[in-house]
Amino acid sequence: MTILVTGGLGFIGSHTAIELIESGHEVIILDNLINSKLEVLDKLFEITGKRPIFYQIDVTQQAALEEVFQSHRFDGAIHFAGLKAVGESVAKPLEYYYNNLVSTMVLSKLCLKYGVNKFVFSSSATVYGDQISPMREDMPLQRTTNPYGETKAMSERILMDTASVNPDFSVCLLRYFNPVGAHDSGLIGEDPNGIPNNLMPFVTKVAKKELDTLSVFGDDYDTIDGSGVRDYIHVVDLARGHLAAIEKMGPGVSIYNLGTGRGTSVLELVEAFTRVNNVVVPYEVVARRDGDIATSYADPTKAEEELGWSAQKDIEDMVGDAWRFEQQNK
Ligand code: WQD
Repeated sequence: MTILVTGGLGFIGSHTAIELIESGHEVIILDNLINSKLEVLDKLFEITGKRPIFYQIDVTQQAALEEVFQSHRFDGAIHFAGLKAVGESVAKPLEYYYNNLVSTMVLSKLCLKYGVNKFVFSSSATVYGDQISPMREDMPLQRTTNPYGETKAMSERILMDTASVNPDFSVCLLRYFNPVGAHDSGLIGEDPNGIPNNLMPFVTKVAKKELDTLSVFGDDYDTIDGSGVRDYIHVVDLARGHLAAIEKMGPGVSIYNLGTGRGTSVLELVEAFTRVNNVVVPYEVVARRDGDIATSYADPTKAEEELGWSAQKDIEDMVGDAWRFEQQNK
């Protein structure tokens, strides 16, 4: 199939592009480079031997996007492009609502106009809010604690409502838990522009001595060791979940958790990072971060039963692959 991948030079998009190409699909990448680097295109060529067609486009720009639809015939679209920093979304709500919602609406409108009837959307476990894990796809959603999370919940609604009146338009909502790790080549990985938001980029910065200590946001949660528990999933497993989705998604709207089903605490992840990579990660426990929940992990059985997909890599793979990427990319 020919697949349009928006945000395809980003962390998850680039890893997904590799899995699509290596499975024989043609990939066309759009990216506005706000949180990615053009050099990733060269890395994709180095890894796969193929250089995807690339357009530097902001997906909110309908005219520019429509030219791409007029130049190619797509069998499906995977929509990664979006702003994704929780903290930044609190400070810049309008930028987040505009970018994340308008891009979803513009892309959907053009997919309908040009008969692109498979739409896979990058959603997030954040839409579950603060409920008791394991999170299941049939759970009622709760209002999230930040505009970023709200844009994911609203985008899901926009896509579900659009699919309900366009029977040929199939939508697959993939709710990611916590993506970490890197391709085992060490050529691509999590490489956010600017100050990171997520745990793993901070751990690697401390390990590289770019930061003195890791701040652990609270150790007084009702968890195994008091620190926050999350379902960390290897980015390559996540990418393979998208391959399974675009190849096997059914008609209408389908929703899948992409997680391992296992919870890992902050302190357990730091311990694994140190043990696997033989590098110290000094940390200090500080106050809880506003909006954080104690525990979140997936019930991953629906994706296993319906897509034949389950996460294969463990936390040791994740911390080892993340560190290899950091070491190869000073
Ligand atoms: C993980 C754990 C923190 C940083 C968010 C979004 C989700 C997805 C992933 C984009 C928590 C703790 C973190 C630090 C810490 N979005 N932590 N010190 O908040 O679970 O999920 O990012 O891909 O949609 O909601 O991820 O990595 O920020 O935090 O102690 O310096 O690490 O408290 O328990 P989160 P995170």
